[in-house]
Amino acid sequence: MIAFLNGDYRPLESVCISPLDRGFLFGDGVYEVIPSYRGVLFEADAHLERLRRSLAAVRIADPLEGAAWRAMLERLLSLNPGGDRAIYLQVTRGVAAREHAFPETAAATVFAMVNPIRSPEPELAERGVAAITLPDQRWGRCDIKAVTLLPNVLARQQAAEQGAVEAILLRNGQVTEGAASNVFVVRDGRVQTPPLNDAILPGITRRVLIDVLRDTARACVEQPIGEDQLRAADEIWLTSSTKELLPVTRLDGRAVGDGCPGPVWREALAAYQSAKPAGRSALPPEGEA
Ligand SMILES: Cc1ncc(COP(=O)(O)O)c(C=O)c1O
Repeated sequence: MIAFLNGDYRPLESVCISPLDRGFLFGDGVYEVIPSYRGVLFEADAHLERLRRSLAAVRIADPLEGAAWRAMLERLLSLNPGGDRAIYLQVTRGVAAREHAFPETAAATVFAMVNPIRSPEPELAERGVAAITLPDQRWGRCDIKAVTLLPNVLARQQAAEQGAVEAILLRNGQVTEGAASNVFVVRDGRVQTPPLNDAILPGITRRVLIDVLRDTARACVEQPIGEDQLRAADEIWLTSSTKELLPVTRLDGRAVGDGCPGPVWREALAAYQSAKPAGRSALPPEGEA
């Protein structure tokens, strides 16, 4: 696999980053995960806009000009040809003597690599996945896509140890998001997701899904979701660039709705798939599984 580091393209195994990199020492950096389908980037502008926003929020000067980001992503994809891919892109404040305050001179470290997108196994998406709930113990700026992910890692590990794929986080009695996903619920056919604020990441998949549902009978309402609403939901979905739109059919060991992926999820997934380049379909239509 060919990766990118500070202007060079080279095999991932030969990429070396200093132990004094502030990403390593402090988690002082931000990142993006940008999907591509059959070699075509999906929502690259939205991901790059969110990257610029994250950089500005943590006061790292944007190390590349607008078009240069896109050119780098395209080049990296062409050097790693194949199926569906997600580009992991990380920018840190760079290499400097270890001191908490910003270094006076340090060039940002820019690193990117490409991973296959593992679409959920069709059976898994057909069965749905399990999730658990946990208290949201993260900081107050979860709208920034920071590499500092220790609470998310611990939450996801706790989910894995309980046989679940995601932890849905609760703060002050309300759903924020998953450890690495946004959350939607459906009740009586009405689709709802928490509104954007500094407690959640403005997910690109979340936004695409809201857009594709906007002009349908399933238009999504952006309103806080209380814990009781989560537990009473007919359907719960998780969204992310690599998971796409995953139905949660067990929450804390109890069935969600009738315990099967719901009809609204199926409609929403079809709408989401049609928005993607080449309309790749992760799932066969109902009845043809
Ligand atoms: C905490 C968190 N929320 C939401 C998301 C979903 O964001 P996106 O749809 O842009 O991948 C992610 C993605 O990794 C995430 O880490």
